[in-house]
Amino acid sequence: VHVAVLMGGFSSEREVSLRSGEASAKALESVGFRVTRVDVGRDVAEVLAKLAPDVAFNALHGRFGEDGAIQGVLEILRIPYTHSGVLASSLAMKKDVAKSVMAAAGVPVPRGRVVHRLEAAKAHALEPPYVLKPVSEGSSFGVFIVKEGRSHPPQELAAADWRHGDFMLAENFVDGRELTCAVMGDRPLDVIEILPVSEDFYGFDAKYAKGGSKHVLPANLKQNIYQEVQQLALEAHRALGCRGVSRADFRYDDRPGGTGELVVLEVNTQPGMTETSLVPEMAAYAGYSFGELVRWMVEDASC
Ligand code: DAL
Ligand code: MG
Repeated sequence: VHVAVLMGGFSSEREVSLRSGEASAKALESVGFRVTRVDVGRDVAEVLAKLAPDVAFNALHGRFGEDGAIQGVLEILRIPYTHSGVLASSLAMKKDVAKSVMAAAGVPVPRGRVVHRLEAAKAHALEPPYVLKPVSEGSSFGVFIVKEGRSHPPQELAAADWRHGDFMLAENFVDGRELTCAVMGDRPLDVIEILPVSEDFYGFDAKYAKGGSKHVLPANLKQNIYQEVQQLALEAHRALGCRGVSRADFRYDDRPGGTGELVVLEVNTQPGMTETSLVPEMAAYAGYSFGELVRWMVEDASC
């Protein structure tokens, strides 16, 4: 079986994708697949038509790779591909739309609204603390936390990262623990708690530097909360119509006197597959080597 690993691309997560792609390609080779690495450019449709692989393994993240665009190209070319299809990818990538869909399905999400750059510079979008995040980015790019008890002059908010567009999602900051749980087909894997080592949230460096964060697997939670995280990950995956592997990220406020809230921050339809990534770690805990995980994904591929 000939597998084309789609990697790189031209989103802000290009470097992450190159690492996800290389790790996945090696794992695919280790279990006997013939692999071609494809660094995705604007000529991707031509390249894939010529290559005519049996399956496209999607290791892209972010714009064009995670938002339904490449999925549409693969549908037209009739090449089976891994992970979610066109609609689920588009929905999940747009965080505000994904939240509406999940909320309608009864999945708890943080309160929030979309604000324009000029509006955000004039007045607080929400009562602090809140988070400003680009509606369609991954890997914590552009995430800005407006803390409690500090006035944020307009200049400071203007310094939030508006490179990703004039609109950002302002979201109630749920203080507490960072949890994540992947879904593999129709079953949730185990729950990881992420303990950032240096930053006060799980930002880019914590995500991809060796030793940048500590993962606790299985997360140390009361059994009912643990199961609720798994159940919500599955419900979120289904609400968005995801396929194959996805990963839902949560926050859980169990501080003494805290709200007890457990919310889904987002669903990643193209979760990281680097050496420090969460999904390979959860899969290993469930008894799948990296090679077995990518084999499962290839066998699950469709178009
Ligand atoms: N956006 C990164 C790759 C993740 O969610 O794992
Ligand atoms: Mg993400």
